[in-house]
Amino acid sequence: MKSWTPSDRIVAPSVLAADFSRIGEECSRAIAAGADWLHLDVMDGQFVDNISFGPAMVGAVHATNDIFLDVHLMIARPDHYLPRFLEAGADLISVHVEPEADHDVAGSLAAIQAAGCRAGLAFNPATPLEEVLPYLDQIDLLLVMTVVPGFGGQAFMAEVMPKVEEAVRLREERGLAFHIEVDGGVDPQTARIAAGAGANVFVAGSSTFKAPDIRAAISAIREA
Ligand code: DX5
Ligand code: ZN
Repeated sequence: MKSWTPSDRIVAPSVLAADFSRIGEECSRAIAAGADWLHLDVMDGQFVDNISFGPAMVGAVHATNDIFLDVHLMIARPDHYLPRFLEAGADLISVHVEPEADHDVAGSLAAIQAAGCRAGLAFNPATPLEEVLPYLDQIDLLLVMTVVPGFGGQAFMAEVMPKVEEAVRLREERGLAFHIEVDGGVDPQTARIAAGAGANVFVAGSSTFKAPDIRAAISAIREA
């Protein structure tokens, strides 16, 4: 696997904000505009109150290009569905820590990594950092939700930033190398706040796919 340096700035446009009727072209457009990764938000109508898409969409995106696919599972029983997302071509899979996700978190993380995929752990704005601490030495990425998950286009919650700062501190203290990703309401202005707190991976849906100039939007987030 390629080197994994949390000081790298990574912009991951969220396909949730793309035009699903022309998904291949939309992904190509984001990649041509400088996307580092593509972020795929999988929602099941149970863990979150929205239904987006499943492994077939991940597979379709994977078939059109070989960009790094960052798959965010907002679903119950992610362990049950992991093999399908691995098979579909995910490069990183994040699972949620909240009890409503209904799985053995350590077991899911281990299963993802055993398949040669990167493992991420996501937690909601209302979930304290303490909930993810037992797993920090088992993850490649910590996904800090900056909105209540379920829908694109919501406002960035800056009040979550102390969790990012504390995660950076613990990462140093423990000699770990996981990336810190922010997801929800990220645009060039809020990316600056998140970068200041120590995040290095920026998921951005509305502010990239719906921007008049996607290339300028991605650059502005990367340089925030
Ligand atoms: C929220 C999703 C986000 C969403 C971000 O439930 O996890 O990834 O696509 O969308 P924007 O950037 O529009 O807030
Ligand atoms: Zn997401």
